[in-house]
Amino acid sequence: MSDPEPQIERTIVVTVDAALADIVTDRLWQLGVRAVSEVGLPDGRVDVSTSVGNDDVAIARATGALDPAWPVEVRDLDASIVQVAAEFLSPTWYSPGKVCIPASCLDAKWSGSDPIDSADLVTVIDQGSAFGLGDHPTTRTSMALLAQLLDSGDQTCDRLLDVGCGTGALAVLAAQLGVPTIRAIDIADAAVESTLRNETLNDVVGRIEVDTTPVAMVDGRWDVIMANILAPVLISMADDFHRLLRPGGSLIISGILADRHDHVLAALDPLTPVDSLTHEGWISIELR
Ligand SMILES: C[S@@+](CC[C@H](N)C(=O)[O-])C[C@H]1O[C@@H](n2cnc3c(N)ncnc32)[C@H](O)[C@@H]1O
Repeated sequence: MSDPEPQIERTIVVTVDAALADIVTDRLWQLGVRAVSEVGLPDGRVDVSTSVGNDDVAIARATGALDPAWPVEVRDLDASIVQVAAEFLSPTWYSPGKVCIPASCLDAKWSGSDPIDSADLVTVIDQGSAFGLGDHPTTRTSMALLAQLLDSGDQTCDRLLDVGCGTGALAVLAAQLGVPTIRAIDIADAAVESTLRNETLNDVVGRIEVDTTPVAMVDGRWDVIMANILAPVLISMADDFHRLLRPGGSLIISGILADRHDHVLAALDPLTPVDSLTHEGWISIELR
């Protein structure tokens, strides 16, 4: 009997200098994909890859939406490799007693008598087609800073705005920690779908108002604003953050490098850093 034909997943690969990799990654997420990977090459460049399925029209639409200056290639990958990658997902303990767990791990090796049962707070995230399983350094440090802020009682938080919500990990955590009014926005339709799904998975249905409203169109004053987006986007939103943050409120930014973010802080002046957390070269900062 002959071996079954290997299942092929067509993969879009953009090869760029390391300094550009996060911008390419963010652009790929904006296509509404299920996953993006970054693999360093021996010459210092990075392969940033994703899949939009095997359909030629979908692939052409996706590659056409990328910067024409980026070198793009479509490669055939054995789909079992993609499956193996998914099996390496694991829970992220971002604060003592607090864990974020991919939905796909729930009924597998992490259920039953494992240490998840000992957590004080469990946030379950189904990635869908948006960014974030809670394991990225930018998300885990944002979750840790938010939990610390809300648990400390140091800041009144009746209204929280999550800008660039992705899968909604931060907004869902805010709901679990009892914030009464939560608004989440993202430019990607897939993020709205994912956030709603994660509201359901975490029993906080109806607690988050989520849509694709641009931040410039949001109004009101917010006690806490979360923004885990890349540095250029944070800088472009500085005026909106100043307009939307209530006096004395907290802005928690992430998506920036621990050793290269002075330009972001300069754009946000007179907001001043009061707390920060770093992980694997990334930093989340609370400013007031
Ligand atoms: C790094 S992900 C963060 C997702 C989630 N907040 C987390 O911490 O896991 C950044 C998100 O910002 C969104 N985004 C990028 N530019 C944006 C913009 N101008 N307005 C709103 N969302 C934006 C992306 O679509 C993506 O979902």
